[in-house]
Amino acid sequence: MKGIKIIGTGKYAPENIVTNDDLAKKVETSHDWIVTRTGIEQRHIAADNQATSDLCVPAAQNALSDAGITADDLDLIIVATLSPDKPFPNTATILQRKIGAMKAACFSIEAACTGFVYAMEVASSMVRCGNYKYALVIGAEKLSSQVNWSDRNTCVLFGDGAGAAVIESVDEKDNTLLNSILASDGTHEELLHTAIGGSATPATADNLEDPGRYLQMQGREVFKLAVTNMANSVKKALEEVNLSVDDIDWLIPHQANVRIISAVGDKVGIASEKVFVNVQKYGNTSAATIPIALDELARSGELKRGQILVFVAFGGGFTWGATVLKY
Ligand code: ACO
Repeated sequence: MKGIKIIGTGKYAPENIVTNDDLAKKVETSHDWIVTRTGIEQRHIAADNQATSDLCVPAAQNALSDAGITADDLDLIIVATLSPDKPFPNTATILQRKIGAMKAACFSIEAACTGFVYAMEVASSMVRCGNYKYALVIGAEKLSSQVNWSDRNTCVLFGDGAGAAVIESVDEKDNTLLNSILASDGTHEELLHTAIGGSATPATADNLEDPGRYLQMQGREVFKLAVTNMANSVKKALEEVNLSVDDIDWLIPHQANVRIISAVGDKVGIASEKVFVNVQKYGNTSAATIPIALDELARSGELKRGQILVFVAFGGGFTWGATVLKY
């Protein structure tokens, strides 16, 4: 059995920044309402000609250069996204062509906002088996293509972006992945979903105007389930490897909303200065929030090698999970 180590990170957020005041010109909302309820002050929105794979390209290139390897070195690319370029082929193969990583096996994972945590587990398991030396794991979303821009309940929450991590296969004794737990509960599908556009209900000329073509959410129910399951995941993932919350140096929670993040922090019992928060700048970028935050924290110099780092996420499905790393 091999070990894994994150040797490089990267991110990309589109240039176009949309503020809460900008949104207040489109729907009946206000900067105060959005900040008070969510903590979000702005979000980055992709250009019409930027697909999710185009957001991945600079994030991937940043991470590769940080890792000191080239695209040609990659054996594996996994892209976690709920907003793929096309229904198929998968976004990772499109990215592969764009960055020239022609030796890599490529596929995508859809686990909504938990996508990066799922992708890390899958990539780590593959690398630990010994067949892959370098893996690129990306969380990327163009959620602006999924959101109903006339629905104030949802459009104020989301943004576009991509975050990337390069994983290297290392000796077992140098392994940095201490634990990873994943979970799902498919009984609440309709609390957070896009009803139309898949094989169950294909998009047709007749449902062109149906709100079901866009992401829909029962915000209060999602809030409660997110807090409970994220907090329990952190506790369980630590307990299983005999660590306590006091051992955590950094918690990177999925950046959906500052109220969810602080409620999770309170339930876990962690000091707020150890909880990384950047949702005010990006909004909820679903699978991209954790790798974007990881890159910001790593490049700030505050995340040191050997520190205990925990990721935790919750998203549509529902899916949730936590990763414990000795960074
Ligand atoms: N601006 C102004 N008013 C609004 C807006 C808006 N953007 N959106 C909703 N309102 C109104 C509602 O219409 C409602 O008005 P009413 O009382 O006249 O009916 C009122 O504000 C309160 O609405 P609620 O939905 O009850 O507001 P709540 O306090 O629950 O906040 C929110 C809504 C922010 C969505 C909250 O439920 C939440 O954070 N949920 C978590 C959802 C989330 O973050 N999901 C992301 C995807 S899942 C994930 O990533 C974990």
